[in-house]
Amino acid sequence: MRKSENWGTRIGVILAVAGSAVGLGNFLRFPGQVAQNGGGAFMIPYFIALLVLGIPLCWAEWTMGRYGGVRGFHSSPGIFSVICKTPKARYLGTIGLLIPLIIYMYYVVIEAWCLGYAISYLDGSLMPENNPGDYKVFFANFKGVNSDGSLLTAEHSWFLGVLFITFGLNFFFLYRGVTKGIEAFCRIAMPIMAVLAIIVLIRVLTLGTPDPTKPDQNVIGGLGAMWNPDFKKLSDPKTWLAASGQIFFSLSVGFGVIINYASYLRKKDDVALSGLTATSMNEFFEVCLGGLITIPAAFIFLGAVATDPNHVGTFDLGFIALPEVFARMPLGQLFGFLWFFMLFIAAITSSLSMLQPVIAFFEEGLGLKRHASAAILGLISMMGAGFVVYFSKGTMALNTMDFWIGTVALFILAFIQAVLYGWILGTEKGEKELHEGSHIRIPHFVQFMLKYVTPVFLIVIFVMFCRDNAVESIASIQDEPVAKMSIMFICMIFGFLLLMVHIAGIRWEKEGRFDHLLEEEDDD
Ligand code: ALA
Repeated sequence: MRKSENWGTRIGVILAVAGSAVGLGNFLRFPGQVAQNGGGAFMIPYFIALLVLGIPLCWAEWTMGRYGGVRGFHSSPGIFSVICKTPKARYLGTIGLLIPLIIYMYYVVIEAWCLGYAISYLDGSLMPENNPGDYKVFFANFKGVNSDGSLLTAEHSWFLGVLFITFGLNFFFLYRGVTKGIEAFCRIAMPIMAVLAIIVLIRVLTLGTPDPTKPDQNVIGGLGAMWNPDFKKLSDPKTWLAASGQIFFSLSVGFGVIINYASYLRKKDDVALSGLTATSMNEFFEVCLGGLITIPAAFIFLGAVATDPNHVGTFDLGFIALPEVFARMPLGQLFGFLWFFMLFIAAITSSLSMLQPVIAFFEEGLGLKRHASAAILGLISMMGAGFVVYFSKGTMALNTMDFWIGTVALFILAFIQAVLYGWILGTEKGEKELHEGSHIRIPHFVQFMLKYVTPVFLIVIFVMFCRDNAVESIASIQDEPVAKMSIMFICMIFGFLLLMVHIAGIRWEKEGRFDHLLEEEDDD
């Protein structure tokens, strides 16, 4: 058996988990969700979801991850088998590999957009004097929405270069390992990100009223555009779905990521306070930084049209409205660069965390060395990113993967994990494990929530989703050949992973990796 890796320092692991959490979801997805779902009123379901789903599930993932890790497993198939004390449970864990892998395939493309935009600010090509002027057209062209395959033409070759660089950076840090790669990078990247975001925030909040002929377009108006509550939205189930989905995506809960990161902890390393600290850091970045930059900035310069939730998509705010803002702002080129570079770093610390669970599985499940695992993972994820880049028309492949995996599947894995913690490991044992080496005491009612409230809340949301969206979403797949192909692609990757998980289980059983667990059961 390979020697297990461990995190180097406590702050290192917290920054790595926070790095996984803080990403495009905080700066691009969150402001869009708030604006589309009732402004300040959205924060009510958002905070309920944070308290009922986000924080408890985070603790459950940290606890189960460390539990599996000290028993020699780092991937969800292995960890689930340990918790269920049967290798058959590994099949359930396949979804914990599928989710990060598929999300990585499109996330890395958006990450490359960020780097591409940062470079375009650096060389000035996104500034009005060099740019065609219409940022909507620029962005559409940039992501190739007009026809499939358009990103593979000579005109876009530089974007493919940027994508390769992004891929290369991810695999460089991944290959260096948990401590020397991920931890070392996050320790540097997180403070840089915070500083850059705060600089941009200060710039936005000190913009005043740039156009005296439009006195309403000022900072206060901008904050109002984001936060003024529309309480009617609270009776719409979609608002509750969106809030829970945002919590999952943003905290990287139900991603198969935290459980993997926590598996590199030692038996007596704290999980309770570390989990809470990483979550709080994410909320600071999301609500205090993400929530105060994008929409207020767009409103101040462009007015209510730019932030109208009915017309503005999530990416449009970041990639269309903000470049227009930077074009009119003093020192806009510098702030444009800082913003997109900050997004790029935020995205890398997240995408790295999506690769680690899969590489950990290849190593421990198939007995492959790091370079072989990285090569296979590189090939598969490149194929997926290639699929997303080729089928760029209407960003159909990206949207389909984001909806079915980046939204729906997260609820499924979160539910599986809530049941594993609350009912299989058991809250009594779970609570004991959670407090092993802990620096804080978690109130007992959290166990009750994890056992009953969280799974029931998830079921209610899922039923609401099926009632309101499922038929329409499935019908839209049938009408769209690319959406159909994307689903087939996801199924193909799922089939491949299932096969690998099957093979891994045979190896583990042969090696007697579960034997001591059964003995442990006798001790319990
Ligand atoms: N949690 C990551 C984000 O917010 C995936 O982008």
